[in-house]
Amino acid sequence: MIDDDETLAHGVASLVDSLGNRPMRNVELKSRDPDPARTLELALTLGASDEGEIEQRDTYFGGSRARVKLREQTPGEDELIAYRRPDDDDAQVSDYLRVPVPAAAALKEALDAAYGTKVVVAKRRRLLLWENVRIHLDQVEGLGSYMELEGLVDGDDDGPARERVERLRKELEIDDANLVAGSYSDLLLDSPAALLAAARAVMRHAYVPYSHFPVGAALRGAGGGIHAGANVENAAYPQGQCAEASAIGAMIAAGETRITAIAVVAQNLDVCPPCGGCRQRLSEFAAADTPVYIGSETTTLGELLPLSFGEAELKA
Ligand code: THU
Repeated sequence: MIDDDETLAHGVASLVDSLGNRPMRNVELKSRDPDPARTLELALTLGASDEGEIEQRDTYFGGSRARVKLREQTPGEDELIAYRRPDDDDAQVSDYLRVPVPAAAALKEALDAAYGTKVVVAKRRRLLLWENVRIHLDQVEGLGSYMELEGLVDGDDDGPARERVERLRKELEIDDANLVAGSYSDLLLDSPAALLAAARAVMRHAYVPYSHFPVGAALRGAGGGIHAGANVENAAYPQGQCAEASAIGAMIAAGETRITAIAVVAQNLDVCPPCGGCRQRLSEFAAADTPVYIGSETTTLGELLPLSFGEAELKA
């Protein structure tokens, strides 16, 4: 997909103007990479130069119109990258602007305070260069092995960059079935790992002086947000509340009423199945095929609660 400059996101465009810089453009292709060692070998055989490995940590913040990420990297200078990318798994054109950042840790804190951190993408990148195309062999925390091709567009004509990326696509034997449209941040936000991490994080705040059995639950709302809660016990035992109920409360407070994925974790159990009552609570807001990540296992709400009673039965 080719996009012209007019569709450049406003956030990126105004940043460009105020700095007097032109945005850079890339033709990009992203793919899962089942065999990074072989891809490396193919790229080196083609004559790509090996620029070594880089540890990168990209922090994404909420509330921005254009996409903005703060990249901390070793080796290399930390930078703020504002960019726009159409989500299309065929080779695509993306515009981006890189701003060097001398005090990345402080800027990250300030942006986090202002906008909140949406997601962090940590990866080890092997960088290779071939005829103005960057080849990234990425090992992404929580996602696995990926390969990216970034052909730098020289001037207005993206034809040559597109051709080089196409040639590499063939030479590196990229299987169409492995092409990926979303960014790493989108993939992470959609992954069980993100939901499980949120459940684990909130579990640390469980109030469990009686059972000593901390539980955390995280719900993905239809709007994309994560809503999390922990169990809250009470000296009058029956007044205690499960983690799932707390998470539902947080979701409702955020104005969300549809659940698209559920994660439940317990500190003392590898697989902590939601109690019967919570299966019913969750089914009020979720569908039978809604995935449920219970520690290391994945199931669906329908499997946990077959023949359930819901609004449809009440109205029948
Ligand atoms: N618990 C949950 O939070 N969710 C469940 O689905 C199972 C049980 C909590 C309730 C109580 O605080 C503790 O685990 C022990 O039952």
